[in-house]
Amino acid sequence: MLEKKHILVGVTGGIAAYKIPLLVRELKKEGADVRVVMTGAAKEFVTPLTLSTLSGHEVVTGMFPSSAEGNGSGTWHIEMSRWADMMIIAPATANLVARLAHGEADDAVTTLALAASCPIVVSPSMDVDMWNHSLTQTNVRILRETGYVVLPPEEGELASGLKGPGRMPEVHTLLGAIRDVARNLHRDLQKKKLLITAGPTYEPIDPVRFIGNRSSGKMGFALAAAAAQRGAEVTLLTGSVTLPTPRHVRRIDVETSDDMYREVMKYRTGKHAIIMAAAVADFTPLKKVPKKIKKHELGNAAMTVELVPTRDILAELAPRKGNTLLVGFALETHNEIEFARRKMREKKLDLVVINNPLKPGAGFGSETNVVTILNKRGKTEKFGRMTKFDVANIILDRVVKLL
Ligand code: CTP
Repeated sequence: MLEKKHILVGVTGGIAAYKIPLLVRELKKEGADVRVVMTGAAKEFVTPLTLSTLSGHEVVTGMFPSSAEGNGSGTWHIEMSRWADMMIIAPATANLVARLAHGEADDAVTTLALAASCPIVVSPSMDVDMWNHSLTQTNVRILRETGYVVLPPEEGELASGLKGPGRMPEVHTLLGAIRDVARNLHRDLQKKKLLITAGPTYEPIDPVRFIGNRSSGKMGFALAAAAAQRGAEVTLLTGSVTLPTPRHVRRIDVETSDDMYREVMKYRTGKHAIIMAAAVADFTPLKKVPKKIKKHELGNAAMTVELVPTRDILAELAPRKGNTLLVGFALETHNEIEFARRKMREKKLDLVVINNPLKPGAGFGSETNVVTILNKRGKTEKFGRMTKFDVANIILDRVVKLL
């Protein structure tokens, strides 16, 4: 699995750094080519000499490597990040997790992580109180949503004597995670251009109020993150969500179904596939009142908002689709397959991803989804509950086949 893979190991200043020479040795035994970068603090825990001896390469320990370390040029980080098939940062201190989550690049490890487009595994290791701190948890969430694989620290006795989650997993667990990522290292969407929509649309009633829906955007963002990891050039059109932009994804924010329609039409040309994961409103208020509607002006009368259908983006794409693959989502609470078949026919879709928000583990805001995929030959494939990122890869596997 790891034979000839280029693996970059980033080491930061935590006590668990003592396990990293063993990790490097195991990676080498499995045939990987390993290069190590360290922060200044990491050198307090493990020596560059040990790691360069085991990896067979000079270790980069600073931002300005001499010719002995790295290649001595000012663009060493770009060359090294392009060389890497994947990167693992272990142990990742609370400080490193925070800096990584905020795009800082002030040492060799964060600089490489920011420059790299390959998958990055992060193994946080710190004391239990630091791990449980809400800021650390927010930073970990940002990393996960941006597309990093963050390994949960293990529970147990910590160097401080405290007990709880915070330990870096043993080397065999790290190796397992590295193999899992390596298994999905296909860059099978390289040079492919994808347009992905995500999130809800907001339809204004007046300048203050709107009609929206519960879509969190997580499924569309997972698709964008997974496609970018597989090498695609991804444009992500999103309604109002609170998610960070996945790595190497071009994001455009929209608000209404009209905005979404306009942007889809603008960006559709030249795309190999368009995946409509957005929950586009089916109805919008007929009148957008320019001033806030005051309740005293209505007296005690019931308020009526007249709704008119929005333009169906997928249906309008159908006659112009050319060679572009169209993937639609069908959110259904009953008669799923029958309705999805109708959607596929009417909107000339190549794939329909059916999900039912009433199923446990599926639906709005959830980290997981339960889907059935319908293809043009009428075949349905049912999947159990899995993370939205895994669902995204399953959808993309089918997109790759059809492309
Ligand atoms: N969609 C779209 N434009 C709209 C509404 C929906 O492109 N104005 C897309 C969605 O992004 C999704 C698919 O159409 O990929 C199905 O949306 P859904 O609301 O489930 O189905 P509808 O066709 O709108 O029909 P219904 O509401 O009756 O289920």
